[in-house]
Amino acid sequence: MARPFINSGSIKRRDQILAVDLGSRTTKAIHLQRRGNGFLLSRFAVLDAPIYDSTLSPEMLAEHLRAVSDALGAKTRLLALSTNVNDTLVRHVEMPRLQVDEMRLVLKHNSRNYLQQDLSNYIFDCHFLPPSNTSNSADAGKAAGAVAKQKVLVAGARKQLVDDYLAGAKTAGLTAEFIAPGLIGPVNAFEMAFPEVFANEVVALVDVGFKSSSICILQQGELILSRIVNIGGDRLTTAVAEAISISYAEAEGIKVGMAGEVEAILESVLVPLATELRASLDFYEHQQDRPVAQVYMTGGSTRSEFIVQTLQNGLMTETKTWNPTAFLQLDLPPQQAAEIEQVSAQMAVAVGTAVAAL
Ligand SMILES: Nc1ncnc2c1ncn2[C@@H]1O[C@H](COP(=O)(O)OP(=O)(O)OP(=O)(O)O)[C@@H](O)[C@H]1O
Ligand SMILES: [Mg+2]
Repeated sequence: MARPFINSGSIKRRDQILAVDLGSRTTKAIHLQRRGNGFLLSRFAVLDAPIYDSTLSPEMLAEHLRAVSDALGAKTRLLALSTNVNDTLVRHVEMPRLQVDEMRLVLKHNSRNYLQQDLSNYIFDCHFLPPSNTSNSADAGKAAGAVAKQKVLVAGARKQLVDDYLAGAKTAGLTAEFIAPGLIGPVNAFEMAFPEVFANEVVALVDVGFKSSSICILQQGELILSRIVNIGGDRLTTAVAEAISISYAEAEGIKVGMAGEVEAILESVLVPLATELRASLDFYEHQQDRPVAQVYMTGGSTRSEFIVQTLQNGLMTETKTWNPTAFLQLDLPPQQAAEIEQVSAQMAVAVGTAVAAL
């Protein structure tokens, strides 16, 4: 499942890539190679994200990408990037039956019609969804007279952002071959990690990030619903800092090292987050009249057992963490081999972006 905005190398087959997830707090990057039927992870890097006011300039991005590329000891210049969930729009839309290229143009010129906003400065990509079970015609395109419609998953990002990514990569000596929405990253990684569950079940993927968290509900391999909730690790740390009048850095240390001492404060943020996520599960379950079997969690905050447990209580659904690097063959330097387990919860977007690009 790939929804790239840019996929310049689609004709020639790539066999290795640097994938970079520009998270709002932490940049996660990997060097991934094709190996037989699988993939080989030969390096990873976790760096503080660059600090900027409103937009990351191409120059700052270039400097950051150079640091990332150095940290990966990069053997390739081919780069895959993911756009942050807050910079990307992902929607289900009913559209006339068209080819993808035509559809992109129709969206660009008629965004108000289809997306209820003026998004003429956006770049779009589209993925066709199979006809829903309410439609009994397998070949609706042939329906006489009527304008045949189909359900489409649309991803959009500001063209300026995509252009800045391309320019930043170029200045850093890299080629941004593939740019895709970060929201889809965990979905692509999950498909590889649990192919059977992905193909057959209804599950929710939740990524608890820094500024926000995302939920994607997958029904037999199709993304049926996605939402962004603007609560993440930043809110947890800020709540601790404010409640006991300490600095943000001190609060971060307590949250990560001694969560037991601030449980009530963390709960005051986690309960509303769980309520928002539960609302998405409720929406899906009422609409489709079937339950979401399980919630699979990733993101830095899910390294904390207390956080996962509290979210599970609020979600009232079996919730587990999963390791998005577990299906990869590892060929890491010894020190990284010892560290990968610790950071794997944060790697879903980078891994998903890399496998989609290869
Ligand atoms: N052991 C831990 N316990 C609790 N929180 C943790 C732990 N380790 C990391 N975090 C939190 O994880 C957050 C960063 O997670 P992550 O890297 O998934 O975010 P991001 O990808 O940069 O953000 P976003 O996805 O919103 O752009 C930080 O708020 C950090 O405090
Ligand atoms: Mg993230």
